[in-house]
Amino acid sequence: MNKMINNHKNKSADGTKLKVFEAFAGYGGASFGLKRAKIPFEVIGYSENDKFAIELYDNNHPGILNYGDITKINPNDIPDFDLITGGFPCQPFSQVGLGKGEADIRGTLFHDLIRICEVKRPKHILFENVKGLSTARHGKTLETIVKSLQKLGYDVICELLNTKDYGIPQNRQRLWIYGYHGTLPLTFHLAPPKKKMELYFKDFLDKKPDEALFKNQVEIERLKELYGLDFIVKEPSCADLYNKNIRSDGISITLLEPHHNKMRVVHPPKNNELRVRKYSITEHFRLMGFKDGEINFGGQSYQQLCKRAANGWDINLVSLIFKQIFQQ
Ligand SMILES: C[S@@+](CC[C@H](N)C(=O)[O-])C[C@H]1O[C@@H](n2cnc3c(N)ncnc32)[C@H](O)[C@@H]1O
Repeated sequence: MNKMINNHKNKSADGTKLKVFEAFAGYGGASFGLKRAKIPFEVIGYSENDKFAIELYDNNHPGILNYGDITKINPNDIPDFDLITGGFPCQPFSQVGLGKGEADIRGTLFHDLIRICEVKRPKHILFENVKGLSTARHGKTLETIVKSLQKLGYDVICELLNTKDYGIPQNRQRLWIYGYHGTLPLTFHLAPPKKKMELYFKDFLDKKPDEALFKNQVEIERLKELYGLDFIVKEPSCADLYNKNIRSDGISITLLEPHHNKMRVVHPPKNNELRVRKYSITEHFRLMGFKDGEINFGGQSYQQLCKRAANGWDINLVSLIFKQIFQQ
């Protein structure tokens, strides 16, 4: 625990608020989503072990106790709660060894979520992971995750949802795992109704992007050679350097941490000069569903903030998921 705060002061007087434990909290995508969905809630604690993520979380959701590294949490130390959320880190799944034909989740961070659920048995759980968890290669792992939750008495529903289907122009497919302690009605759907895209990538860009984000002509020549692209566009577009193309569908590739150097904004040439640049911090967050000013950046660096956005929850989608769950 890296902060001793009396969290009893957060307790609601009438006890009607949803009590939440936010695991793998990042910037607090679950909190932002619940706020946006206008669901009365209070976070009784969170778990995060990255010092920059903790600073960002505390700036935006002050006064909440951080229980720190999830592997060290004794679930009995946490007050009771109704909902646990967690976008558990995905790397462990590439290391999962398959013993006797069964995926082994012990030793992965998912196992720590299960440990907490075993003791606390919250009514609702909402977990998230990359699409890869639902593919054939990790199918056994997902099956093991679902079975472990079912063994604890949860009805479990998994849905692959894409940010671009809910009005935000980012191609971001994520697997959402919802568990309800009890039996869900047969009519229950986790996927919110899709929304038609009304605003595209170009509409999410800064009106006057910072000049420092632009590559110089020598750097652009190098990119042309490396990726075989001419970088000539009629309207601002997303360059997908992984797939060596410039998207013409008006959406962004999945946000990636800055060190990958694989996503760029391409503007129409000006004065015969090509214009290619990095995404700004605000563009990262808009593409994660934030309205300008909704998150307090607290003066953190480009690297840290963009890393957080690339790993965070799309708060537009998560607010729709929460509405979908709690309206049924
Ligand atoms: C995929 S991100 C989740 C982001 C979050 N859902 C959000 O909305 O920003 C996973 C987070 O888990 C954190 N994390 C990794 N290992 C952890 C551990 N052992 N205990 C607590 N948090 C951990 C990482 O620092 C990272 O912020």
